[in-house]
Amino acid sequence: MKILVTGGCGFIGSNFINYLLKKYPRIKITNLDLLTYAGNLANLKDIEKDRRYKFIHGDIIDGRLVNRLMSEKPDAVVNFAAESHVDRSLYKPADFLSTNVFGTQVMIESARQHNIKRFIQISTDEVYGSLGLKGLAFKETNRLDPSSPYSASKAAADLLVKSYEKTFGYKAIITRSSNNYGPYQFPEKVIPLFITNAIADKPLPLYGDGLNIRDWLYVEDNCRAIDLVMRKGMPGEIYNIGGNSERTNFYITKTILKLLNKPLLLIKYVKDRPGHDRRYAIDISKIRKQLNWQPRYKFEEGIRKTVDWYLNNKKWWKQIKTGEYLKFYRKHYQT
Ligand code: NAD
Ligand code: DAU
Repeated sequence: MKILVTGGCGFIGSNFINYLLKKYPRIKITNLDLLTYAGNLANLKDIEKDRRYKFIHGDIIDGRLVNRLMSEKPDAVVNFAAESHVDRSLYKPADFLSTNVFGTQVMIESARQHNIKRFIQISTDEVYGSLGLKGLAFKETNRLDPSSPYSASKAAADLLVKSYEKTFGYKAIITRSSNNYGPYQFPEKVIPLFITNAIADKPLPLYGDGLNIRDWLYVEDNCRAIDLVMRKGMPGEIYNIGGNSERTNFYITKTILKLLNKPLLLIKYVKDRPGHDRRYAIDISKIRKQLNWQPRYKFEEGIRKTVDWYLNNKKWWKQIKTGEYLKFYRKHYQT
């Protein structure tokens, strides 16, 4: 099987490439990545010389380049490339529209023209908006109600992908997963940020009352689900992917501190994120029934592995810079 992955130098994309190369001896993977602040070649250093793997440095918005890669006729295209951080979407929303919406348009148009059989658009549960504490878990048929420029851009991409089915009969597949965590996640997202801050005895900025809830999915479980969807998913379908691990932010913070043997005093309550979704919960019955998938990791096991990974890979995260956005964010939204 020959596949084209975009955004493969980011967190989930690099885990996915590493996962596929380990599992399938005869696979061929081309990875198109712009190497934005979130793209990191070190995530793939173990396989960079693998002859089954090829890296192309470029932008998914570059139609000529994308057409060239599609003309190589991959059996499947998996579009991970995106601006992915909600807080950053309050800082530079235009970047989110460019990659997440226009980039997706370039990708799906080219896939359609080259008659690519399987196109997987990697979306998110955030497109459904916020759930109340008693709300029923998101189903694939829920209406889209995004809250941030990030989630609005992902919802726009999903609608565009669906429009290609109605207008041109081109049937892509969409996955909508909950919050991933695990190795190689950029330390701006809450779990790696809190682990790396705690290791360095820096405060952990907990938003609002700390009781927002996310459904945590260990990245390897997501990679296994995306692989199944890529091979066996029904064109035209949407699949929710969740971790069966709803936890409050306070609970995950407390767990990280306990695993690192650090005091609760490191928690610093800060002003809430504007438009902060209260709760996400995912109904995974469709992917369970159709593809026989369910998560293998409970949060408590996945977080232990994740904390160990950050402890054992200090060189990886100490080289990373979060850039100007954090200063901007703190000044405008936390004072
Ligand atoms: P990430 O920010 O870690 O990585 C994004 C990657 O895309 C980087 O390597 C970056 O260089 C690349 N990229 C950005 N713009 C590009 C462009 N214009 N052209 C080519 N490459 C570009 O993101 P992630 O957390 O790995 O998320 C991957 C995908 O999964 C995204 O589509 C995101 O919306 C979705 N998702 C993420 C989560 C999560 O918890 N992280 C959950 C659900 C869905
Ligand atoms: O649900 C899927 C989404 O999960 C993906 O689509 C996004 O790409 C991914 O970034 C993630 O979005 P979240 O906004 O849920 O993730 P984040 O790690 O930014 O925040 C998780 C929770 O932690 C959220 O309730 C906000 C809170 N938080 C976050 C940060 C960065 C804090 O309390 N303090 C922080 O410093």
